[in-house]
Amino acid sequence: MAQTPATSASPVSFTRQADVLVVTIDNPPVNALGVDVRRGLAAAIAAAEADSEAKAVLIVGAGRNFIAGADIREFGQTPQPPSLPEVCAAIENCSKPVVAAIQGAALGGGLEIALSAHYRLAMPSAKLGLPEVALGLLPGSGGTQRAPRLIGAKAALELILSGRHAGAKEALALGLVDRLGEGSEALPEGLAYARELIAAKAPVRRTRDAQALADAEASRAALEAARADTAKKSRGLFSPMKIIEAVEAAFTKPFDEGMALERKLFLQCIDSPQRAGLIHAFFAEREVLKAPETKAAKPRALESAGIIGGGTMGAGIAVAMLDAGMPVTMIERDDVQLARGRANVEKVYDGLVKKGRMTPEAKVSVMSRFSGSTSYDALAQADIVVEAVFEDMAVKKAVFAELDRVCKPGAVLATNTSYLDIDEIAASISRPGDVVGLHFFSPANIMKLLEIVVPAKVSADVVATGFELAKKLKKVPVRAGVCDGFIGNRILAVYRQAADHMMEDGASPYEIDAAVRNFGYPMGPFQVSDLAGGDIGWATRKRKAATRDPKARDVQVADRICERGWFGQKTQRGYYLYPEGARTGQPDPEVLAIIDAERQRAGITPRSFSEDEIMRRYMAAMINEGANVVHQRIALRPLDVDVTFLYGYGFPRFRGGPMKYADMVGLPKVLADIQEFAKQDPVFWKPSPLLVELVERGADFASLNKD
Ligand code: 3HC
Ligand code: NAI
Repeated sequence: MAQTPATSASPVSFTRQADVLVVTIDNPPVNALGVDVRRGLAAAIAAAEADSEAKAVLIVGAGRNFIAGADIREFGQTPQPPSLPEVCAAIENCSKPVVAAIQGAALGGGLEIALSAHYRLAMPSAKLGLPEVALGLLPGSGGTQRAPRLIGAKAALELILSGRHAGAKEALALGLVDRLGEGSEALPEGLAYARELIAAKAPVRRTRDAQALADAEASRAALEAARADTAKKSRGLFSPMKIIEAVEAAFTKPFDEGMALERKLFLQCIDSPQRAGLIHAFFAEREVLKAPETKAAKPRALESAGIIGGGTMGAGIAVAMLDAGMPVTMIERDDVQLARGRANVEKVYDGLVKKGRMTPEAKVSVMSRFSGSTSYDALAQADIVVEAVFEDMAVKKAVFAELDRVCKPGAVLATNTSYLDIDEIAASISRPGDVVGLHFFSPANIMKLLEIVVPAKVSADVVATGFELAKKLKKVPVRAGVCDGFIGNRILAVYRQAADHMMEDGASPYEIDAAVRNFGYPMGPFQVSDLAGGDIGWATRKRKAATRDPKARDVQVADRICERGWFGQKTQRGYYLYPEGARTGQPDPEVLAIIDAERQRAGITPRSFSEDEIMRRYMAAMINEGANVVHQRIALRPLDVDVTFLYGYGFPRFRGGPMKYADMVGLPKVLADIQEFAKQDPVFWKPSPLLVELVERGADFASLNKD
């Protein structure tokens, strides 16, 4: 029988191979369950029922994946029939055995389709999971009802609440699948399985009737444990508790009632702003990879690396590269500093060994790829060199002169500077086209963000190599232009000032931190200062003192605190007290007294701030500078700002990023806030021209994310 599309141009086709109706989903890139796939699957099941020669049905995905889930792009739009639960019900109710043969992703709705089939086979490449929680959702096509019935409440809750993927072998052990296939071709393995089932006259076996919840006591205990754990861990998140409610219905209600409750809760999640924020984050972190240079040029070689400087950043970057399997050569000023740099790297691995997360042998093996030298000649063969020496233009230029002298033609020469002008560094050597900014975040082996800073003269393939390096190091790259602070630190400097202004005007640092935490950040700005060390900001302020605008407001509380040698956690005292090295700070009455004295010096009568006002000011400052950064093309799109903040600054993912948040609040409201704040401080609060323009046009930031 010829391949029959379910409807004309349907991504689902079916063909009978002897006594098995083979249904193939071919909807690149990942076989998501868009409306056409749902229609096609419904038509295929109807055809199977009507075809008396078909004794079993086999569902396979074309390409690398089975099905990656619902089509995420459809959420928030008017739903088109048939719904996914209806399609799943049609599969489960089919009168002939249905087999799902899974390779690659069977995620979310994809796994729900497989769970609705009567038998499941997993190929070695299979990844099964219900990751809806990461999108602010719950499995909405029977996942919360069928998975617990199949694998028990404990395993199902763990899978659904974590959103993690299980491999083929684990899926078999859990009971999610019935058998494992071999090799890479799901179709022949699935056909053989279907024919075995036909020969054995295997019955249709509906997951809705599975019995893994028979032990009600065990199910109840698993549920209570999950509830307690979720209350602790998922602070502020909407969908995890809804997941627990839905799974509870799997053992307290009949299947159909459980399905109805699941649907109701799923729709609540769909309507939540968290869903919008999390799905924005999902697409944004994929869009950032599509920089003009990655489209235009191929990356250069990236086999071996050099690092200059073995301090906080150099050592962290070295670890990130070693972890990615690269050989790394570190250059330091002298033998003492080199030994310290090497020790900084080893300390990270020693910590892992101590925690049992690495064997001593693995550490030796990783460190065998590490070498150090005080001579730049050791970098002659390096494909890429990252400079992480002191933040001082003269020192950096001297380093780049050496790199210019020793590095092979075509080597990528990168700087990890936080603020310095990379155009100036590039212009100081004979090969400016090879110079790029690679701005890692501390700790560099942990933090996911990598700003790829693009100076005027850099070659496109050097920028593309930066993106390739990010991929190799499993980092999230964001393209940024050259300016003071690039995307992240430039915006940070502005909203950090807004926080200082509020502190001087009457809010305590503790109130501000609490408001920011309640918004969803893991820490507030004053806690971050204490963690990073107040001395760093103090040094920067002193360096910039000569160039600061004399009309701009100058809050000096941080200086008064630093003058006392209170640099934060490392000195056991900063904005907070850290007695005996405690990690969590306690409010310090002496800091409040310093703030009071500063208010008096500045002639300010303190007033109270509500949490709402604190966050309106904090976010308005962030959004306004974000708009400036986009306006000046430092960030190509608002989504680049969002990803920078999600991965570099702890911005709560469920809010999507500052620019997405602004769209959700409404740009006219954000602009009105800024205009109101400007009445008291017109120097600080200047509405961004881009924000004004968007409000005038009735447009939002999202409109600038499109190509
Ligand atoms: N819907 C729409 N588009 C999707 C998609 C989905 N479910 N999953 C992936 N895509 C898109 C990506 O946006 C990307 O598009 P682009 O090329 O235009 O940027 C493309 O497919 C390829 O994706 P990746 O770059 O992520 O490819 P990988 O090979 O690295 O990863 C994957 C593949 C593991 C399937 C990964 O894409 C993934 O995790 N997808 C999301 C899975 C998921 O969350 N499923 C649950 C959806 S919600 C649901 O099913 C609700 C149900 O319960 C009712
Ligand atoms: P650090 O002071 O911890 O380390 C700098 C290292 O460079 C020292 O070990 C020093 O001996 C070495 N060094 C100095 N001059 C050298 C030279 N001429 N040749 C070889 N080695 C030399 O500083 P840190 O914090 O690691 O910062 C390094 C760079 O990274 C700076 O440009 C900084 O702005 C940037 N950065 C820092 C971040 C942070 O959180 N610390 C975050 C992102 C970037």
